[in-house]
Amino acid sequence: MEKKDLDWASLGFGYVQTEQRYVSNFKDGKWDEGGLTTDANIVLNECAGVLQYAQTCFEGLKAYTTEDGRIVTFRPDLNADRMYTTAQRLEMPPFPKDKFVEAVKAVVKANAAYVPPYGSGATLYLRPYMFGSNPVIGVKPATEYQFRIFCTPVGPYFKGGAKPLTLCVSDFDRAAPHGTGNIKAGLNYAMSLHPIVEAHKAGYAENMYLDAATRTKVEETGGANFLFVTKDGKVVTPKSNSILPSITRRSLMIVAKEYLGLEAEEREIYFDEVKDFAECGLCGTAAVISPVGKIVDHGKEISFPSGMDEMGPITKKLYDTLTGIQMGRLDPPEGWIVEID
Ligand code: PLP
Ligand code: COI
Repeated sequence: MEKKDLDWASLGFGYVQTEQRYVSNFKDGKWDEGGLTTDANIVLNECAGVLQYAQTCFEGLKAYTTEDGRIVTFRPDLNADRMYTTAQRLEMPPFPKDKFVEAVKAVVKANAAYVPPYGSGATLYLRPYMFGSNPVIGVKPATEYQFRIFCTPVGPYFKGGAKPLTLCVSDFDRAAPHGTGNIKAGLNYAMSLHPIVEAHKAGYAENMYLDAATRTKVEETGGANFLFVTKDGKVVTPKSNSILPSITRRSLMIVAKEYLGLEAEEREIYFDEVKDFAECGLCGTAAVISPVGKIVDHGKEISFPSGMDEMGPITKKLYDTLTGIQMGRLDPPEGWIVEID
């Protein structure tokens, strides 16, 4: 199969329209058969549930070309699980998990020409999403929904690739205790737009959000979980009911323990402890692991010993091992890699 003539190495994290996307509609209490379409546009009634009460959620995962030329995805079953949980919390009809994985495969296969070549530094990002599509004017869930998956080739989420980032501690809260912080609802991202625009204006790459109840504990950023490395080489990550359960983070904790023989712990992390860590990174599908060099808390700077030039040594090992598994250079744990035939 001939690849598209794109300048893969200079792609940023943006939208490039590809040929095929998957669509399935929910009506009269059931999902239809679903299938691929070339139509990238959606026509909606003016009163559609998604437009009035933001009844929408999404997922994000990637397809990779391995060293030996196969096309694979990484743990799509976990995205299917998470979207199921998200839908339940938003009173949307969950999309069947097996159909989700089949739809992911169908979209990647149909757009194989857009899967960036091995070694190009780019990947194919898949965006499954679902929204309420019929008119809703009283505050209640829609009765009709559309589930879609499109894909777009992407480069690094943060400009500068592996260069350490500078973050700021946000004055805004991302998620309330018992709120929606642990699901992938569009509303969590809508509320983060003002804080991220403000952070960017002030020269920061992202916001560090603290827990809304006490503002003493580290939560996450707008689009990734945190990983820290202690001075004695232990990997720690915040435990909270109001952060998104990152698939990358859950995978990295296993990589740390089982591939690198490190101690790895998920626990509450107080902001006061952050100054004592040796390394810090942001992890997520889009971010992979992006190193953090500095966090600014209202003018007070916390600089990690790993510095502003490159990834810390343990962050680098985690990055190399995870991407090694994703790109087929290392043997994966059972079930992590799903090949597109
Ligand atoms: N946290 C937030 C708020 C996110 O949007 C994402 C991205 O999906 C993540 C964390 C990382 O999750 P994952 O590793 O499953 O992509
Ligand atoms: C992802 O990593 O897939 C995300 O959803 C992050 C997003 C904010 C781009």
